[in-house]
Amino acid sequence: MKNFTNYQEYDKKTNLKFASKAVHGALGTEPLTGSVSFPIFQSATFRFRGLKDSLGYDYTRLQNPTVEELERTLAILEEGAHCMALSSGMAAVMCVFSLLKSGDHLISSDDIYGGTYEIANTVLLENNIKTDFVDLSVIEEFEKHIKPNTKMVFIESPTNPTMKVADIAKISEIAHKHNIIVVVDNTLLTPYYQKPLNLGADIVLHSGTKYLEGHNDTMAGFVITKTEEMATKLRPYLTYQGSCLAPLNAWLTLRGIKTLEVRMQKHNDNCRKVAEFLRNHPKVTKVYYVGFEDHKDYQTTIKQTTGFGGMLSFEVDSEQTALQVLDKVDMIIFAGSLGGTESLIVYPTVVTHHEVPIEEREKLGINDRLLRLSVGIEDPQDIINDLAQALD
Ligand SMILES: Cc1ncc(COP(=O)(O)O)c(C=O)c1O
Repeated sequence: MKNFTNYQEYDKKTNLKFASKAVHGALGTEPLTGSVSFPIFQSATFRFRGLKDSLGYDYTRLQNPTVEELERTLAILEEGAHCMALSSGMAAVMCVFSLLKSGDHLISSDDIYGGTYEIANTVLLENNIKTDFVDLSVIEEFEKHIKPNTKMVFIESPTNPTMKVADIAKISEIAHKHNIIVVVDNTLLTPYYQKPLNLGADIVLHSGTKYLEGHNDTMAGFVITKTEEMATKLRPYLTYQGSCLAPLNAWLTLRGIKTLEVRMQKHNDNCRKVAEFLRNHPKVTKVYYVGFEDHKDYQTTIKQTTGFGGMLSFEVDSEQTALQVLDKVDMIIFAGSLGGTESLIVYPTVVTHHEVPIEEREKLGINDRLLRLSVGIEDPQDIINDLAQALD
């Protein structure tokens, strides 16, 4: 496989800190021209110099310089051996699930993203791969569900919308005793706040559409592996399934990543202020926020992350109040997705988790009073003022 490189080698060249690595990327300036902004190589194909003689690039579905620079950068930030860039987060989920074969068993967090839930309950099930959706914040629940044919555990931590936290190190330790592959969807915290591979996970995946790209203007997905061996198994799926990332989208994501640290810090600070405001509001009955010291998983959180991120959910006193908030928010946008500069609010029961059967949703706390807020990087007082007028 051409250009198949262990990206940890790039990292060894430097002892720069996270923000500097994010700004400067792997190669940084483009080597041929010295272009400070790594160029968009907007070409589907590349000229051969002769038979079996190319400059290392043949066809963009196989390799593209802009996409590769992004892959190298993200592998460095997640401290993995290899990264694959894909067209969306769902493409990344499908890529990882390609490791499962008929007869295998999957254990997954119970309130994962609705799209991932839907894949497990359709594509995987049709291929004779059964999933147990488990509350992975309770370690005994994980152990209880392990079967001889369990091949993978799929962790979202924190989960969304109900913000449960799984102990990634403990789960990895137990899983590896049973030869179970540990996958973490690290979309919500990003490598800035959480590095699952260092905690013992084998694979990290992202919806790059969210914090990594960060501006609500492109789709992307990533799979980062701890070892090259794992990447060798996964890369052909991406190549032949054709779910590669387009060069322009790769460039937008590279640009987004340059400001990941400052954006994450601002999301984190704003989110705490908004969470505190909501907790004291008379119409708010519950706030799901991992940064509260009385959150049931707070000790696990501070053990494995360096921040709390920009996501929270809150329950209001009635369905009518929830609908009123969605109708009255002004600067905050009623829209799906998360992790961008703009604050976005959604109604998980209808927008992100409609695939989950109603009885399951109710059990998970995803009811008609629950709202999920992706706290943006606007002035925090403006976000609070907007919520206050929407709740009144
Ligand atoms: C946690 C999480 N993982 C994966 C996905 C899927 O990503 P995408 O929408 O980029 O396909 C989403 C989308 O909302 C998500 O929130």
